[in-house]
Amino acid sequence: MFTSKSLSSGLSFTFLALSLVLLLAGQRYEPSDLECAQSVSSWSPAWDAVEYAWQTFQNGFSQKSIYRGVPTLELEEAWNASLQHDPIIIPTKQLTGLHDADTQLVQSENGNGALAYLEVFRNLGCLNLLRQHTYREEYDYSYLDAFQGTEAQIMARVDGCVQRLREVLMCLGDTTPYLIMLTPEKAQKESPDFNTLHNCRNFDKILQWTKERESPTLHKLPNLYSLSHE
Ligand SMILES: *[C@@H]1O[C@H](CO)[C@@H](O)[C@H](O)[C@H]1NC(C)=O
Repeated sequence: MFTSKSLSSGLSFTFLALSLVLLLAGQRYEPSDLECAQSVSSWSPAWDAVEYAWQTFQNGFSQKSIYRGVPTLELEEAWNASLQHDPIIIPTKQLTGLHDADTQLVQSENGNGALAYLEVFRNLGCLNLLRQHTYREEYDYSYLDAFQGTEAQIMARVDGCVQRLREVLMCLGDTTPYLIMLTPEKAQKESPDFNTLHNCRNFDKILQWTKERESPTLHKLPNLYSLSHE
């Protein structure tokens, strides 16, 4: 009697311990935010710099920002400092999957790889061009390559940027809901709450990673914003 009882409680204990081990082992396989992102993104040499954090957008109508408002030299410099100006080099052995095998690429001068830019900076550069274009009457942008040429050429660049940003936003398809707040104390009695919660990549880290690898080149590359399709 006694033996069989302690045998069965011993067995129960073993099963309990086994279940706990399996439970813990299962939990260990939960992928990180970065691993999840990697599984749904193209390869990038900048993965090392990608770090996620939850953050609330600062999107109020009167929210101040160094990137916002009537252009000043300081504001123009803040935008310019957030962009990639020189290419980075992607080592030849890492290029597979980034381009068609029959495409010829512009190589780095040391022959170690191909010249590349990161899309986030292209997108921001496009947004910057749209911003500058709206403020054209108030600020002299004639020093910029993007504002050289005929009106039709300038408009073609602006139009190309609208097309690009539309594609990026549709691709992202952000489904975060935003709600409408009751604001009886304000002239506008109801207002949307755009300060929504997002899991964002740390932009400063990506910028710093890129700045450390930007590589001035003697090769005459087409200026990013003076390209047009005519
Ligand atoms: C933007 O910054 C880059 C790199 O610091 C600099 O070379 C370039 O002259 C700046 N462009 C403008 C238009 O200020």
